[in-house]
Amino acid sequence: MAAELSLVAEGVVRLRVAPGLQLRPAQSWSVGHFSAKATAPEIVLSKGVARFNAKGVEVRCDLRTGEFSFLDSSGMEIVRLPGGAIRFEDGKPQLSLALGEREQIFGLGQTSGPLNKRGQTRELWNTDVLGHSRSIHPGLRSLYISIPFVISLRDGRAAGLFWDNAAKQTWEIGVPEGDRCRVNAELGEIDLYVFIGPWLPDILRGYSELTGRMPLPPRWALGYHQSRYSYGSRREVLALAREFRRRQIPCDVIHLDIHYMNDYRVFTFGKRFSKARAMLRELHKIGFRSMAIIDPGIKVDPQYTIYSEARKLRALVLDPSGKKPITGKVWPGESVFPDFTSEKVRRWWAEQQSAFQTEFEIDGFWNDMNEPAAFDGPGKTLDGRAIHRTDFGPKTHAEVHNIYASQMARASRAGALAARPRERPFLLSRDGFAGIQKQAAVWTGDNSSFWEHLGESIPMLLNLGLSGVPFCGADAGGFMEHCTGELLARWTQLAAFTPLFRNHCNDTARAQEPWVFGQETEDICRRYIQLRYQLLPYLYSLFEEAARTGTPLMRPMFWEFQNDADAARVGDQFMLGSALLVAPILQQGGRARSVYLPRGTWFNFWTGEEVKGGQFSLIIASLSTLPLFVRSGSIIPFQELQQHTGEKKIETITLHVWPGAQGRFNWYEDDGISNDFERGISLRRLIEYGEGARGGALVFGEPEGNFASPIKCWRVIVHSKARLKTARLEGQALAGQYVPELGLFIFDVPNLPDTFKVSWK
Ligand code: GLC
Repeated sequence: MAAELSLVAEGVVRLRVAPGLQLRPAQSWSVGHFSAKATAPEIVLSKGVARFNAKGVEVRCDLRTGEFSFLDSSGMEIVRLPGGAIRFEDGKPQLSLALGEREQIFGLGQTSGPLNKRGQTRELWNTDVLGHSRSIHPGLRSLYISIPFVISLRDGRAAGLFWDNAAKQTWEIGVPEGDRCRVNAELGEIDLYVFIGPWLPDILRGYSELTGRMPLPPRWALGYHQSRYSYGSRREVLALAREFRRRQIPCDVIHLDIHYMNDYRVFTFGKRFSKARAMLRELHKIGFRSMAIIDPGIKVDPQYTIYSEARKLRALVLDPSGKKPITGKVWPGESVFPDFTSEKVRRWWAEQQSAFQTEFEIDGFWNDMNEPAAFDGPGKTLDGRAIHRTDFGPKTHAEVHNIYASQMARASRAGALAARPRERPFLLSRDGFAGIQKQAAVWTGDNSSFWEHLGESIPMLLNLGLSGVPFCGADAGGFMEHCTGELLARWTQLAAFTPLFRNHCNDTARAQEPWVFGQETEDICRRYIQLRYQLLPYLYSLFEEAARTGTPLMRPMFWEFQNDADAARVGDQFMLGSALLVAPILQQGGRARSVYLPRGTWFNFWTGEEVKGGQFSLIIASLSTLPLFVRSGSIIPFQELQQHTGEKKIETITLHVWPGAQGRFNWYEDDGISNDFERGISLRRLIEYGEGARGGALVFGEPEGNFASPIKCWRVIVHSKARLKTARLEGQALAGQYVPELGLFIFDVPNLPDTFKVSWK
C-alpha cells in the first residue's frame, strides 16, 4: 500500500492510501483548495512511532501496527484508525474507526431517524424513495443526498471526517460492533480529511472551505414559497397568486411543477400555459417570483429539438455497450439523460436553460429526479455499468452516480448566471453530494403528511446543516398523503424557522394551501408566515454568516452549547441562529411538550416571561402557539410586515433586546438581489449589548462596506419587567416610552454613519 499524510490547512490533515505502490493523481468532484497554507509539520520518529506535529495538532502513526491516531491541541485523541483499519478487499477500500464510549456521530447528508447516527447503517447512494421514513421503509438506508462527512462529538470536543470518494459507501456506525464505525466503498481509494476541532464552527469553516460554501441567495428566496404538483394552468397560477394577496398571506415564490411543460419536455411550456411570459410578468407585477421544475430526463422524440441536439452533440449517458444512449422511463416516458459530468454538456445545458429563462422571464429552477431517477432501472436509477464521458475521462455510472445531481446543478447555476449575470441565482435540487451547497439549496424530497415526518424533519435538516448544506427545508405540510388543518398549522410553525420555507404537495393529495382547512388554520399559518417576514433581517444576516463561514442557520442545541451533555442529546428542538430556540409541537393533539433550556436565562417569546435554564421544562402550547424562546442578551432585528420581500422600502429596523450580561449581533445588509456585494457593496456592522449597573447599552460599531443603507431609524425595544425611564444617545436624552402591561421600553435612534452608543436605565 502507498500512503501520504499531509497537513492541508491549520487543523486539517489529509490521509491518502492506495492499494498499489503509488497513489494515482487525485480526481475530486468536491474539493477545492485552502486559501492559507498550513505550517509545515515537524516530524519525529522514535521507537517505531512517527509523530507529525503542527500548531496544536498531532498525528501519530505506529509503523509497526499501522495504527493512526489524531490528537487535538489538548492532547486528546479525537480520531483513531486502529492497526489494520485501512484495507482493500478485492480492490474495495474499507476503513474502521474506533468509537469512544460517549462519542456521537452526526452528518452524512440526508438521513432519516434520530439526530445521532450512532447505531445506524447508512448507505451513501442517492436514491428516489417515496415517503421516506423508516416506518414506511423499515430497512431504509439511502435517501437523496449523500455526503461522506461526519462530525463526532465526545465530551464536548468535536472532530470532523470527510472521505472524498463519490462511489457507493456503507457506513455501519456502532453496529454491529458497538465500538467501531466501519466504512466500505465500492470503488476508489482512501482519501480522508480529518478536521481536528475541537470547536464545531472551526470544523464547518474548514469543511466548507474545502468543499465550497453556499453563495449568498437572493432575499426573495428567504420568503414563503407555495408549490403543488401541479398548478395546472396559467389561470390557476394567477388565481393562486391573487388569493395570497387577497388574504394578505405573505408569499414570494410560486413553483411550477411538471404539468407546465408540453408533455413533460424540458424547456417548453404546454398549451395550458400558453402566454406563459405574460403570466410570469403578471406574477412579477404583484410581487411573485417563479421557479420552474427541470428534470434531467429528455423525452425520446426525434421531433423535439432538445432531444435531437443532445443526440447530435453526443451529450448523453451511454448504455454499457458504449454505443448508444441509455434510456429509462421517467415522466415523459422513454427518456435519455444528459451527461452532466462533461464540461461540454454542462455548457450546452446552461445555454438551453439560459435561453428558456430569458424567453419566459423565469426566476429560478428546481432540479428534480436528479439521481437520476429511471422508474424501470435497477434501484430506480441507471445501470451502474452505463458510461459517462467525464471531465476526468470515461467512467461508469457507479463511479459518478452520487455526483450526477451536483453536476446538473452546476450546469443550472451557470445557465442562471448567463441569463442574469448581475443577479444571484436561486436553484433548488433534490439530490446532492459533498459540495452541493455551492450550486443549489436542497429540499428533502418526498416526505408524507404524517406527524412522524414532521418530527423527523428536524434531525434531517440539522444533519444536512452539519454536512455543510445550510440552505435546506422539508415540504411543509408533507408531500404524499393527506394533510389536515392541525398538521398544517404545526408544520407551518416549524417550517417558518427552517432555512427553506416551502409548502408543497403531491397531485393525488388533498390541497394544502394555508386557507383550505378553514379560518383557524389559515389564521395560524398567516401569523407564522408573517413572523417569518418580520424576522427577515435576522435571517438575512444568518444567511450571510453561513455564506461566509459555513455555519448553519438551523443549529442543533449542542452547536450553541457544545459542553452541555444534555444539549447533545436533544434532537426535537433547535436553535435558529444563536438567539432563538424553537421547540415545535410534534404530536397530533399535542398541547404541551418538554423543552430543554440550557443553562442561563431564557425568555418566552410570546409572553416575555423569564424561564430558568439548565433544566427540562414542561411547556403548554395551544394550537396557535409554537414554543419559542429567546436567549438572554439577544439582539434580534425585526422589520415591518410585507406581503413579499420587495414590497416596501424598509427604513426602520426594530431591534428587540432581551437583557442578559452581554450579547452581540452581526448586522448585514445589501441590495438583496445583485452580485454587487461581491465588490464590497454591502454593509456590515457589529451591534453589541452590555448591561450596566442600572441599565443597559447598545454600541453600534463602525459600518464596514460601501452599501448606502436605506435605514433611517433603529427602533429599540428593551424587554424589561422593571420600569425604565430614560434613554440616551451619547449622553443626549431620547424620547422613550415604557409600556408596563407589556414590559417593554421603546425608543428611536437615528441610523448614524459612525459608531455610536445608546444607553437606558
Ligand atoms: C418528485 C418530486 C416532487 C414533484 C414530483 C413531480 O416526486 O420529489 O417534489 O412534485 O416529482 O414533479
